[in-house]
Amino acid sequence: MSTVTVPSLISAYSAETKKLLSQLTLEEKAKLSSGKDFWRLQGIERFNLPSIMVTDGPHGLRKQPDDSDHIGLNDSVPATCFPTASGLAASWNRELLAEVGNALADECLAEKVSVLLGPGVNIKRNPLGGRNFEYFSEDPYLSGEMSIAWIDGLQSKGIGCSLKHYAVNNHESSRMITDVIIDERTLREIYLPAFEFSVKKTQPWTVMSAYNKVDGTYLAENRKFLTDILQQEWGYQGLVVTDWGGNHNRVLGIKNGQGLEMPSSGDINTNRIIRAVKCGDLSMEELDKSVGRVLDLIIRSRDAFQPTHTFSVDSHHALARKAAEEASVLLKNDGGLLPLSTTDNIAVIGEFAKNTRYQGSGSSQIIPTKLEQPYDAIAKLIDSDGLSNICYCKGYHLDETEDQQLISEALKIAQNSDKVIVILGLPTSYESEGFDRKHMHLPKVQLDLIAALAPVYEKLVIVLQNGSPVELPFANQVPAILEAYLGGQAGASALANIIFGQVNPSGKLAETFPVSIDDVPSQPWFPGESRQVQYRESIWVGYRYFDTAEVPVLFPFGHGLSYTTFEYSDLTIQDNHKSNDENTFDLTSVDDIVVSFNLKNTGNMTGAEVAQLYIGQQNSSVHRPKKELKNFAKVSLAPGESQRITMQLCKRDFAFWCSKNHKWRVETDQFNLFIGASISDIRLCDVISIQGDNPKGAQDVSLSAYFSPKAQNYTEQDFQNLLGKDIPPALPSKPFQLNSTMREVKDTWIGGKLFQIGFNKMTEKLGEMTEQDKLVINAIFDEMTLRQLVAMSDGKFKPKVMDSLIHIMNKDWIKLLCGAGVRSE
Ligand code: BGC
Repeated sequence: MSTVTVPSLISAYSAETKKLLSQLTLEEKAKLSSGKDFWRLQGIERFNLPSIMVTDGPHGLRKQPDDSDHIGLNDSVPATCFPTASGLAASWNRELLAEVGNALADECLAEKVSVLLGPGVNIKRNPLGGRNFEYFSEDPYLSGEMSIAWIDGLQSKGIGCSLKHYAVNNHESSRMITDVIIDERTLREIYLPAFEFSVKKTQPWTVMSAYNKVDGTYLAENRKFLTDILQQEWGYQGLVVTDWGGNHNRVLGIKNGQGLEMPSSGDINTNRIIRAVKCGDLSMEELDKSVGRVLDLIIRSRDAFQPTHTFSVDSHHALARKAAEEASVLLKNDGGLLPLSTTDNIAVIGEFAKNTRYQGSGSSQIIPTKLEQPYDAIAKLIDSDGLSNICYCKGYHLDETEDQQLISEALKIAQNSDKVIVILGLPTSYESEGFDRKHMHLPKVQLDLIAALAPVYEKLVIVLQNGSPVELPFANQVPAILEAYLGGQAGASALANIIFGQVNPSGKLAETFPVSIDDVPSQPWFPGESRQVQYRESIWVGYRYFDTAEVPVLFPFGHGLSYTTFEYSDLTIQDNHKSNDENTFDLTSVDDIVVSFNLKNTGNMTGAEVAQLYIGQQNSSVHRPKKELKNFAKVSLAPGESQRITMQLCKRDFAFWCSKNHKWRVETDQFNLFIGASISDIRLCDVISIQGDNPKGAQDVSLSAYFSPKAQNYTEQDFQNLLGKDIPPALPSKPFQLNSTMREVKDTWIGGKLFQIGFNKMTEKLGEMTEQDKLVINAIFDEMTLRQLVAMSDGKFKPKVMDSLIHIMNKDWIKLLCGAGVRSE
């Protein structure tokens, strides 16, 4: 891949930014490098630079007018809650994502928020990732396409995004301190492309660096990631902002491409920057390069707001419903049980029916403008026929108290009904920012309910409300399963519309549903040791593994049923200029290959199909998946209607990352090209010959272990061969240091007190908390570091005091007496 030459950045800045850089004092520049408070940047009044606001995101606006926090505790102004990213991605609909981005921008304009902190494009390496609900997919191309559309929709209205969390932040446990050990090719092919495509196509106004380290260096100060790759290779012109409290060494950050520390750390880092410039550790040019990007952001945001900006709560609610309809995936529909008729006698079972789960928890949690409940939405549809043929029972307790009585009630109402809808899902305490899931099961009380209902009752429709895959041990015993994801505030009417056929489902899985978590290739190394995680499974993530290794799954990537049927025919493959009958393409001279085929709706209901294009190299010199997604199209067709679908492929689509030469490489070889309704439902295929810029090489024997993927059997030696070096030792957790977490120190007397005081402080204004809330907050607080405690205390917690406390925790009396500094690694 060619390297983009970024002009000396200062000369690329606008005339106003350049002028400002020549007028601002050192103190002002240092101040601009950190936030003003939790959500605002510094402004400089004498230059008419306003203090602009940034807030979460990404599936709705979380503007906190009063107390601030980054873990979803305090209230925010009501905003439209759209489905979370896992649902949005299941729509595979670029236009829809752009519409959602647009609507979010309108709400930002109305609330005078300049930057919305999203989208999250981290890859779902393992279904247990606590924040998977907030990410799009296990596939980098699909994640990138969804992100590009969302960002375009948002930024086209003059509101910036924050593409996050850059990079390889794929789990929550120890997210502040873990060091990701990953080989170069896996990084380039799996974990970076969604960022790369988004940066190259949309120039996000900001990129948020992740909390973790890669190869021993925190992302917030990682030159390779922030400068070499992001700026030099991809040509990024915007501002890199730290994840909240994710700054490590502020001066190093500025030198290496980090523009803005968020939130404010009081004067701590401002003073460090001033001192560094004064003593020559940081040059004024380095500081200018960095501050110029902050100024550019403020200037481009300055004039966005008009006093007249408002948005229609109702039309955004309707858009949220449309998004939820497209996000729902019909996983199973034996005998065409769905759609149901509104004249059927319906039993609705499950506490989620009256207490819906519609968003995840943590920093993305918002207050919706309205909230529908599934039971009400179903009853409304049924009642519109003038018949009152619906009954409800709870079936299980969300707090997981076992209750045989509820199961007996469920059996009773099921027996007196024609059809039974059971709403299941994951309670908040099962998936959240701040911790990973422990297993892939549904709560036992829900499984017990189905175990009682399924054998005696045939007409069961299971609806799932969850942000990431679950094991479904009952999948073979029930005829219909609808994955509704976390469908946002209008998710309830969306699912009712699908169940009763007002809407034809068109969602497809953007992730694999494995049979069991033990089948997942990363499982033995997930989430790793607290200070190191090895990505030993290499590129074998999601369907790339299951499809290539032929491991059965519960539901495959790209799968989703419709109430109609589609026929695929007449595949042709041409280059952009002329027809090519021999199916040979010389990619050294032609960059675009055009794939086209016919798609016909052969059923009797209007419906949309997501047609997917995969390719796979036949004899590669490195291990490659049998199929990789390279394009897709979502098309709505009336009964009997057909359309010719056209998709493009470019040279990069055929390439793998060559770790030896550090670049993309296309080998001359045969490639299989597949058009499918899912990864495992291939409808058309062909073989094409590609003339690449490299001859087909012999297989690299040192990597033989990786050629036929064996989920869990990669030895340390295999991984070292892949890395091309030894696995570095993980940092010890003792002696304690500034990057020790609360979890690591809380067994010491001082650590315990810090935990208690911090926890109380965080929660003091929240009033009565449920046990589940406490669990979530505890877990999030566990992962905070001592460095963050100081940085996020708004100057109240002095660094020197923390140094002394750490010496005491380490019983290092000499360092305590000398007032020595503390390690920060
Ligand atoms: C999260 C970010 C979020 C930020 C601000 C962090 O803890 O990782 O995704 O945008 O807080 O709330």
